[in-house]
Amino acid sequence: MSSILLLNGPNLNLLGEREPDIYGDFSLEDIEKTIEKLGKENNIDTECFQSNAEHELVDKIHNAKSNGVKIILFNPGAFTHSSISLRDAILGVNIPLIEIHLSNIYGREEFREKSYFSDISLGVVSGFGKQSYLMAFQAAKNYLLRED
Ligand code: DQA
Repeated sequence: MSSILLLNGPNLNLLGEREPDIYGDFSLEDIEKTIEKLGKENNIDTECFQSNAEHELVDKIHNAKSNGVKIILFNPGAFTHSSISLRDAILGVNIPLIEIHLSNIYGREEFREKSYFSDISLGVVSGFGKQSYLMAFQAAKNYLLRED
């Protein structure tokens, strides 16, 4: 069975409380439940993982290959703009990536415009709130169908 790994980086555990005008009033649990439900409906094995620690995300990416992950959906949070380690981890396992952001990172502070992931992603979904995750799931599903 094809497998999707949804990864979320630092501070995304605070969704719902954190700057709701920018990030929305739903929780990360809401997003993860929706993605898991979509996975079940589409017969795609889906795992969700969030961490505030860079090394835990690196380890999760390293283990993805042996866990049968075929595509990674990743909102790296602030690591988007800083983490060469996470970029190298993705390149190291050579698993296709879709980058996700709730907010439009190109319409905010200048420092958010630089992403260490965009150029190594199949595509980027940025600016559609919770919908960004649903759009990324749809894109991942299409990718997996094309592959199988
Ligand atoms: C974010 C955008 C990042 O710049 C920020 O640091 C986040 C969330 C987003 O989903 O819009 O933590 O990745």
